Amino acid sequence: MRAPLRSRIGFAVLLATAAAMLGPAPAIAAALGGPGYFPNVPLTTQDGKVVHFYDDLLKGKSVVINLIYTRCTFSCPLETAKLSQVQRLLGDRVGKDIFFYSISIDPKHDTPKALKAYATKFHVQPGWLFLTGKKEDINLISKQLGLSSLTDAANPDGHQPALLIGKEATGEWMMNSAVDNPQFLATTILHFLEGYNAKPVKSYADMGPLHNVGKGEYLFQSRCTACHTIGKGEGLGPDLLNVTTLRDRAWLARYVAVPDRVLAAGDPIAKKLFARYPNVRMPNLGLSAEEVDALLPYMEQQSRAAAGSATKGSPSAQ
Ligand code: HEC
Repeated sequence: MRAPLRSRIGFAVLLATAAAMLGPAPAIAAALGGPGYFPNVPLTTQDGKVVHFYDDLLKGKSVVINLIYTRCTFSCPLETAKLSQVQRLLGDRVGKDIFFYSISIDPKHDTPKALKAYATKFHVQPGWLFLTGKKEDINLISKQLGLSSLTDAANPDGHQPALLIGKEATGEWMMNSAVDNPQFLATTILHFLEGYNAKPVKSYADMGPLHNVGKGEYLFQSRCTACHTIGKGEGLGPDLLNVTTLRDRAWLARYVAVPDRVLAAGDPIAKKLFARYPNVRMPNLGLSAEEVDALLPYMEQQSRAAAGSATKGSPSAQ
């Protein structure tokens, strides 16, 4: 599924959904949130510390929760890269006023060590835990959070990158897309924390005049900038400056659409890139041919613009 989940749900809806999935007894019997509703099962952090889901992670806290698995080549890398930008925007409030939890739905493979390596790749800062545990316990958590039908390691195409934002103390919960614009997510989280009195992370007044955002630019900004720049240096992935002239067009179109398949087919360029960027993988973002057709001219035009300003800026440039 590619459509981002944008619905906002009240806790009652969430509870009703969870109750419907669980059957009558446990969810309905419990109060809204509070002890007994959220399972207090043990989980292990990326640092090997055992914590209890309710007592240690939720009780009295404001939290942001998503489900991931480190072998995922679909939405998770984009999700984690975007959340890492959100963490940077929220600064030291993460770990103090709000806590991030990414829970693995592939606990057999995602040992604390694997999660630690994954967190390191995405420059995760303190205040954000990656958690693993027993499969049954994690299933129970995801059911109670209303996330279970949305993310499924066995069926990556059914993966909905959902981000749950909640205040345990007041029982307020809200579902967002985990791949939304990080600035928007950071502002949404701040508003949620501060009862809508918060100032946005960046004022709309600072935005300057609006320009027409074309489809290619929109796609690049929303799907690619978490990992790439064009002429501003390496991010989690390579700088894409001049990639449109460096690579054959057909190759590029196919790689942007299905990088996982190009790599799996043993393509030599894909293998070389994979070796050069061993940490994060270029995700298959499920782009349509039409979307790829909009992205390539945008990347080309941005490369030309970057080359133009570099020549103007430095007299030594050829
Ligand atoms: C989660 C991070 C991430 C996101 C999001 C991402 N990429 Fe990548 N991309 C990478 C990495 C890492 C590589 C290097 C290859 C590898 O290790 O898989 C790469 C490689 C590439 C390459 C090959 C570069 C070359 O030298 O040939 C292109 C082109 C590319 N990405 C385009 C895009 C576009 C377009 C988008 C958005 C639609 C995008 N990427 C989204 C991480 C990402």
